[in-house]
Amino acid sequence: MSVDVIALTGLPGSGKSTVAPLLARLLGWRCADIDALIEQSHGKPAGAVLADQGEQAFRAIERDLLHEVLAGQRPVVIACGGGLLADPGARAVLLRQALVVWLDAADDVLLGRLDAAAGRPLLQPEPAARLIELRAERFEAHAAAHVRVEAARDPHLIAQNIAMLAASERIDIPGHVHHVHTGEGLLSRLAEHVPADATTVALVHDAALADAATVADAALEAHGIRCVPLAVEGGEGAKTWKQAGSLLESMAAAKLRRHDCVVALGGGSIGDLGGFAASTYQRGVRWITVPTTLLAMVDSAIGGKTGVDLDAGKNLAGTFWQPHAVLCDISLLASLGERSYRCAVSEIVKYAMLFGDPLASLLDSDLDSLLARHPGAITAVVRMCCALKARVVEADEREASRRALLNYGHTVGHAVEAASRYAVLHGEAVAVGLRAAGLLSTRMLGCPDTDIAWQESVLRRAGLGQVDGVEVRDVQQCMSMDKKSRSGETRWVLLERRGSPVAGVAIPDAAVRDALHEVLSV
Ligand SMILES: NC(=O)c1ccc[n+]([C@@H]2O[C@H](COP(=O)([O-])OP(=O)(O)OC[C@H]3O[C@@H](n4cnc5c(N)ncnc54)[C@H](O)[C@@H]3O)[C@@H](O)[C@H]2O)c1
Ligand SMILES: [Zn+2]
Repeated sequence: MSVDVIALTGLPGSGKSTVAPLLARLLGWRCADIDALIEQSHGKPAGAVLADQGEQAFRAIERDLLHEVLAGQRPVVIACGGGLLADPGARAVLLRQALVVWLDAADDVLLGRLDAAAGRPLLQPEPAARLIELRAERFEAHAAAHVRVEAARDPHLIAQNIAMLAASERIDIPGHVHHVHTGEGLLSRLAEHVPADATTVALVHDAALADAATVADAALEAHGIRCVPLAVEGGEGAKTWKQAGSLLESMAAAKLRRHDCVVALGGGSIGDLGGFAASTYQRGVRWITVPTTLLAMVDSAIGGKTGVDLDAGKNLAGTFWQPHAVLCDISLLASLGERSYRCAVSEIVKYAMLFGDPLASLLDSDLDSLLARHPGAITAVVRMCCALKARVVEADEREASRRALLNYGHTVGHAVEAASRYAVLHGEAVAVGLRAAGLLSTRMLGCPDTDIAWQESVLRRAGLGQVDGVEVRDVQQCMSMDKKSRSGETRWVLLERRGSPVAGVAIPDAAVRDALHEVLSV
């Protein structure tokens, strides 16, 4: 779901009530200030209601109002009372439904803003000492926020900063709700996404991205978070059991604790490897993934599949381990080679064929801009693909059913990749697989020619769909090995038409052979 509730929390003086209306105005959203609503309904300031009724009764009033606000018109920015997130029920609701932002500033900044502390009974009798206590009491609640934003700044700047995160995508996997943020320059704001109780980050990064790793390191250190960079040569060769073991040893040597965090900065290979290490270190620590290839942004960073390869095959050891956050910083694509960039178009076309509009229309209007790497087009396409994959993963995290749809084009794609001994890149091989699945969809399910022609034309414009030096019989052999290793018949994902996929289709060998001849000969 796109984010339609932003909840601001923080200690007294952090500026929730000032920032909330500014943010709401910037976004054109409704604003609800819980303290102001209490004042309206009780005819006196929230502080006075708290003093009169006691904390327990006050929290119940807050909770009821929160439910009313959440049941009302959206999108909405909510200024939460400082203690609201400390209430376990309210916290669970907010974390599930809202992007929860903790406005954080040092005690002296907060105290400087609180010269009128007389109206704040929670801070009596001695504001400085009481603020320290309150920070400790509420630390757990604040640390649960999705994002921590520096509040010792002009409120307009804070509002602008938060507004940049409003277009994020919420992935609602029970117990693992997290957000995918897409935009430019997100890496330099990495610290905002690191959970507040993490004091050390193990930064697993592609060795080819040394400059980006330096940006991440500086961003973390500037916020007092220790960063332990762990460079790994990116690419499929990184995804080994040995490499994962070596990362785990490095994490232990760096004294990474249970509450600390792993950041994976790189393409799908580093995401799969770093996520796998995070999922096993001390039985699982939180991790943030920062994909740096277009393929990783539209595909591998979403869904929480992690893993390494074994001698017997790709991805044979792995886990499902959802990230704490996904940061698609599209500025990181600037250094990505053209071949790798274009490979991602196969996966994008796959989503468009599986789900139709609005992605298909977006490609109709924006494909040239996407191929020319215009930031606006990349952002729009990445956001849409993330949303599409998120819906599939939410419905079927463990690939019991619906997630298998994402294998459209991959039955042949994987075999072409393997038959070329991985000289053909994944996206290039999937493009061939999409063409084969397209032909078979027409022949087996009567998919309209126009839909398949659309797929052909988008792939062709991206320079995809043809590979050299791959023989039909080698592809068939790889497909039959794959079939044996899964001890069953190959089941295909085909299309009745664009936007209407069918999983589990069985196809006669002769039809498959004909389709392979056609797509591998032209
Ligand atoms: N977990 C999942 O759901 C999932 C889904 C799809 C693919 N994958 C996995 O993803 C992997 C492929 O990932 P990928 O295509 O993102 O590539 P990759 O991580 O293999 O990287 C490809 C090459 O690009 C380089 N690179 C990466 N980012 C760069 C940048 N910004 N600038 C310059 N060079 C850069 C790397 O060093 C490497 O040489 C495969 O192992 C595949 O199995 C996983
Ligand atoms: Zn793929």
